Amino acid sequence: MNVGIIGSGGREHAICLSVKKSKKVNKIYCVPGNAGTSEIAENIEIDLSNFDEIKNLVISKKIELLIIGPEKPLVNGIVDFFKGSNVKVFGPNQLASQLEGSKIFTKKLCEKYKIPTAKFGIFDNSSESKKFLEKSSFPIVIKADGLAAGKGVYICENKNEAFFAVDEIFNGRFGLAKNLLIEEHLIGEEMSYFVITDGNTIKNFGTAQDHKRVLEGDKGKNTGGMGAYSPSRLLNLDLEKKIKEKIIYPTIKGLQDIKINYKGFLYAGLMIKENEPFLIEYNVRMGDPECQTILPKLKTDLTDIFISCCENKLDDIKIEWNEKKSMCIVLCSKGYPDEYKKNILIKNLKKINIDSNNLCFHAGTISSNNEIYAIGGRVLNFVALSKDFKTARNKILKNLKNLSWQNGFYREDIGFKVID
Ligand code: AMP
Ligand code: GLY
Repeated sequence: MNVGIIGSGGREHAICLSVKKSKKVNKIYCVPGNAGTSEIAENIEIDLSNFDEIKNLVISKKIELLIIGPEKPLVNGIVDFFKGSNVKVFGPNQLASQLEGSKIFTKKLCEKYKIPTAKFGIFDNSSESKKFLEKSSFPIVIKADGLAAGKGVYICENKNEAFFAVDEIFNGRFGLAKNLLIEEHLIGEEMSYFVITDGNTIKNFGTAQDHKRVLEGDKGKNTGGMGAYSPSRLLNLDLEKKIKEKIIYPTIKGLQDIKINYKGFLYAGLMIKENEPFLIEYNVRMGDPECQTILPKLKTDLTDIFISCCENKLDDIKIEWNEKKSMCIVLCSKGYPDEYKKNILIKNLKKINIDSNNLCFHAGTISSNNEIYAIGGRVLNFVALSKDFKTARNKILKNLKNLSWQNGFYREDIGFKVID
């Protein structure tokens, strides 16, 4: 069959590589893809908000399975757009995608089903928000309701920062804001927890620790993710049982109660405190770079998993994993997450050692005249599998040193809590 993959990041390159391994798959089209996907698939440049043009591609290229990587097209209803057509579309529909698209929707669901999460209040104007903040203790968390490309969360250390956040949100920094959320600041260690579901059957899809901060020691600004490792060091049977019973199952049941059938990956961003899980947020997709970290451990045919999920037969498939430890280190353009230069040549890519335990997924790259150029903040994802995290990290660092890209930087300390 022909397969379409929507997205252009490291996550989509990793999905593309896994899908490519399936004997069922003939040709893959990535929309728009990156330099990495162009080596195993055909990249097609289409604006991801142009569903009509994506549909034309699906028809003209006889695509039978369409996999949606990022949240935006999901929240904008790409799955609903294809309803009634023959193509199987992997991902949640628009109502289900509110789990990521509206933080207030998720908080209300948590309240109704007693899902552990930070205490919260919903405010619909600036003066009420500020009145509440006047008598609050800090730090406190303020959030825009809708999608904000990872920028709508403010951890405020004092009243001034909190007022600034309220003003930014109500002044429309993330689009028209009817409401905002003020939340209790949770303390603990974060963990990324993944499942795949067809709305009835729910299966584990791995865990990871993501390093979001730009500087070593988990300091500095927040980024899209500087690296990750899987499995999470926090995972144990007791915790996993609590995550499923207190958070994941009530969420899927809560959606069913309002006639929403969730189909796709579900990514729970959790805070773990003394082996108790609290939901920070849901994402309706795989994480990035967690996807690049987790997928190389998958033994089962990913295409079969996607198809069985689309056909409501997830129960029929056994998902098997390799026991190795996996790590990913992200190579970024100097300056990221602030300003950085674009269209910078990356030489030495041929010096990287690639095999089934050493992978390099592209993110912000394009290829032109047989050369590869960086166009994004996060550029390449180096992944290694090994019996232990230290060996995995050393293998990645060796590859990064071989590449020796002058315009890039990376964190050498990914996984420091499981290594040092
Ligand atoms: P983002 O991924 O941009 O939505 O950022 C969310 C990040 O903000 C999370 O990964 C946490 O680090 C932090 N965060 C969000 N809500 C809370 C909370 N209630 N308490 C503590 N940290 C939070
Ligand atoms: N790794 C964080 C995210 O994908 O949102």
